[in-house]
Amino acid sequence: MVDTQIITLDGPSGCGKSTVTLAVAQKLGFHWLNSGALYRLVALEHTKNPSQDIQATLDIIQNADIEFTADTTQLVSHIFYNHQDVTSALQAPDIAQIASKLAQHSEVRSGLLELQQKFLKSPGLVAEGRDMGTFIFPQATLKCYLTATPEIRALRRQKQLLEINKHVSLDTLISSINQRDQRDCSRAEAPLKPADDAMIIDTSEMSLSAVSAQVIQYFKVKAA
Ligand code: DC
Repeated sequence: MVDTQIITLDGPSGCGKSTVTLAVAQKLGFHWLNSGALYRLVALEHTKNPSQDIQATLDIIQNADIEFTADTTQLVSHIFYNHQDVTSALQAPDIAQIASKLAQHSEVRSGLLELQQKFLKSPGLVAEGRDMGTFIFPQATLKCYLTATPEIRALRRQKQLLEINKHVSLDTLISSINQRDQRDCSRAEAPLKPADDAMIIDTSEMSLSAVSAQVIQYFKVKAA
């Protein structure tokens, strides 16, 4: 058994990755990485100064103080950027679209590589995103790929947004999800796809606690 364990959870938005990541990390006492939040931070910083060279934006992110905290009882996380809670700002649908567009550029992907890998600490890490198992942590003990129908994902996203007092219609969410999926899956660099050795979990008909239990069960077998 290796010292530091890694579980990767990849998949499109709204498939339950964030909740499952927190639940699994909490259960196993592992650290966690929400890599989408880092892409969203790049988008947020970019919108402050859109004419700025993207490398300068990445330098700001690389030198920033970024902290994830979790309200583990409710399985909700908060993202602090230079000590400011930016959770709500990062959830905005236009920030998600800009993040997805910027994520197509190789300098953005390579600019975030080291920052993501720094989250790996003993005793282990649960990392969620689009390319955790395929590119960032190919050595992971367990790789999972979560899916769900666009309708279910839109419903989950709507619920998450309502929790931070944002109402977005289902139609708008479905079309935004489809647009992002299309872009994230078809980009040249690290497209969204399951790793060859990933366990595929269709979460459409499952509760997120059942998905977490499934991931932990797979992990116990892999890590034994
Ligand atoms: O997981 P999320 O919805 O917060 O991610 C926002 C965007 O960031 C997503 O549409 C694509 C990009 N992203 C990525 O390219 N690679 C990752 N590992 C995580 C997110």
